[in-house]
Amino acid sequence: MTDHVWTGEKKRRAISSDDLKMRLDINKRSQSKDFQAWLRKRLNVQPSEQILDVGCGTGAQTYFMAEDAGEDGNVIAMDISAESIENLKNNIPLHLKNRVSAHVLDMGNIEGFLNEKYNSKYYTLAQSSYALYYSPKRISVLTEMQKRTKNIGRVAIFTPCPPHGMISFVEKYHKISDPVQDSLYFGENILRPLFRKSFHELQVHYFQSTISIKTLEEFKLFYEASTYYNESNNEGLYEEATNIINRENVLKFDKCGILLIGSGVKNLCNEVF
Ligand SMILES: C[S@@+](CC[C@H](N)C(=O)[O-])C[C@H]1O[C@@H](n2cnc3c(N)ncnc32)[C@H](O)[C@@H]1O
Repeated sequence: MTDHVWTGEKKRRAISSDDLKMRLDINKRSQSKDFQAWLRKRLNVQPSEQILDVGCGTGAQTYFMAEDAGEDGNVIAMDISAESIENLKNNIPLHLKNRVSAHVLDMGNIEGFLNEKYNSKYYTLAQSSYALYYSPKRISVLTEMQKRTKNIGRVAIFTPCPPHGMISFVEKYHKISDPVQDSLYFGENILRPLFRKSFHELQVHYFQSTISIKTLEEFKLFYEASTYYNESNNEGLYEEATNIINRENVLKFDKCGILLIGSGVKNLCNEVF
């Protein structure tokens, strides 16, 4: 089985550290709500927590979780992109250095990795944001996250969910590929009922923010860094974007997501999936 739902150039871009940085930057300056602050509040990491960060990218959640876990806390972060792990390590604030260990890893191999490196360790939080659906082995990854948090911890997964304004806009001009559609509905349609069957306690949080785009250049940056970018026949799409920006001075899109936090294992995910 492969390590990613995409192959070739699409996969390269989906795991590229530069593209991730660009997406995080554009989102930060265009969104009506700070996603990381929203997530941080709901993960509510406490001093001394032992944490797994799956698909950590360049550390958007790793850093704040390590900060909140304090001197006695620890975050084990993992990502398939060597470049992103390198960036995470290079940019980590000095006082967080010995609270974080970051590893290049296909999350599909998380079980073997944890058995080998951290055999008897359990965690108070296993979290994965904007990442789980990239792995074809997502259910076994989730099961391992569950096993490693057992009765003491919680599993927190964030994924996009509809409505996704930018995808609805682009969809008028291009077919949106299956992996993108899949990632959009995975949280609401697959994970939510699965968490209900798998955990005794479940928190569900919905996120909504509005992305405001003021120029065609910015629209292009946003769209071209996305996984639903289509290289050809974008004239009509760009023309409509330009018309709206000229008329209304801004192009607005809903960007939504779902955060599931499960605790108290009822059934292992792979047994009830
Ligand atoms: C959209 S980024 C999210 C990163 C980070 N959690 C954040 O919110 O900024 C998705 C991440 O998943 C990683 N990824 C994709 N497939 C993976 C796999 N099979 N194993 C581990 N990481 C993977 C990518 O390299 C990328 O860094």
